[in-house]
Amino acid sequence: MNLPYAEPWRIKSIEIIHRSRAEDREAWIRAAHYNLFNIKSEEVYVDLLTDSGTGAMSAQQWAEIMLGDESYAGATSYYKLKESIEEILGFPYFLPAHQGRAAENVLFSALIGVGEEGRGKIVPGNSHFDTTKGHIEFRHAEALDLTIAEAFDTENPHPFKGNVDLVRLADFLEKTPRESIPVFILTITCNSSGGQPVSMANIRGVSELCRKHGVPLFIDAARFAENAWFIRQRESGYESRGIREIVREMFSYADGATMSSKKDGIVNIGGFVAFRDRAMMEKATSFNIMFEGFNTYGGMAGRDLGALSVGLRESTDYEYLEARVGQVARLGAAMVERGIPVQKPFGGHAIFIDAGRFLPHVRREEYVAQTLAVEIYREGGVRGVEIGAILADRDPVTRKDRFPALELVRLAVPRRVYTDLHMEYVAATVGNVWDRRADIKRGYRITREAPILRHFTVELEPA
Ligand SMILES: Cc1ncc(COP(=O)(O)O)c(C=O)c1O
Repeated sequence: MNLPYAEPWRIKSIEIIHRSRAEDREAWIRAAHYNLFNIKSEEVYVDLLTDSGTGAMSAQQWAEIMLGDESYAGATSYYKLKESIEEILGFPYFLPAHQGRAAENVLFSALIGVGEEGRGKIVPGNSHFDTTKGHIEFRHAEALDLTIAEAFDTENPHPFKGNVDLVRLADFLEKTPRESIPVFILTITCNSSGGQPVSMANIRGVSELCRKHGVPLFIDAARFAENAWFIRQRESGYESRGIREIVREMFSYADGATMSSKKDGIVNIGGFVAFRDRAMMEKATSFNIMFEGFNTYGGMAGRDLGALSVGLRESTDYEYLEARVGQVARLGAAMVERGIPVQKPFGGHAIFIDAGRFLPHVRREEYVAQTLAVEIYREGGVRGVEIGAILADRDPVTRKDRFPALELVRLAVPRRVYTDLHMEYVAATVGNVWDRRADIKRGYRITREAPILRHFTVELEPA
């Protein structure tokens, strides 16, 4: 008989968490103005708000923390990270940044411009992440979503729902002047479309079109290792290739990458911009120095650079990815068993509940996904996040709410943190809400919001 699967690690240190009473959660969520970002972590039992910066580091990473070289310039830890980036991603140049959005700020300042320089420019991509879009729109440029249509049907089993529609991209590149397109951003896996991967064929296709038209291609590499895992699982010709080999090929098609290393870097803070071209890196350097710090630390402590150098290696390990993506899939399967509508195939870092199909009688103007996220918290102290109209924000020109094609609640699984029993608890919690869904008829209205990236600080009241 085949032996069952088990995680490729054992636990050395634990953190105590507590369950809570329903009446306490009711008071906490009211005090938080029905925004889960305002809830204290001690008021949460299983925290699936994000997989960003919430992972557990290995003993080897903690050892690197102790070895951290805090020299202002030329730190050993910087060179350790440089070696990892060059070896794993294949980029000879990089600038450290304190997290992903900081890397975006540096890259976009160099490629799109600052202030009014971005006006009239268009940055195509596959469902840009919200901070990416925020940084583009902050520069008065437009983020153009060219994701394939299949991505917006949660039941469609397409294996690569992060893919770019190459016909639309070709058409866009033909019709748009080159000087209006500063860069193409390809997000792998694509967080906003549900942690869905991009195939190698599609990365190659995007790269060929971008090269033909002289547009630089940058990869948003937050979850690059999970993308490589899916290529190995689902793309013909890659089933017996090593993860590292697949990773090298993915990046070989790009001119550079931004990375929030709080995801597949398995560190709690950090990021970088990597470049193939020295001149491009040099152009970005002055922005990095201005916004982040000198080239060899750029917003990160030496110890964090060191931990990241190890994390990049660990996240590209086959057994790690099998455990990681497998746990997310087991959570997905436990939801499907209960009849809960979730996006399929399951994403790499999260399960996305189709809130539109879960709560069909809640009006979209009353924020369907937010309504469901609040109910899941109320039920069992499980914190997820709204990926719906609140996140989609207002149109920068008309200032009207933008209603996305999908209203989703994302349950993002931190790396190496929770056990499968926690995942069972989460599925049971959502299952209880599913059983009482007919009683949830009204959502929320906004009482206070910020002009950009409103979801972090929005305040709501029951509609
Ligand atoms: C795909 C993607 N890009 C960029 C970012 C921004 O990274 P950070 O949160 O480190 O600023 C995120 C964060 O979740 C992300 O998922």
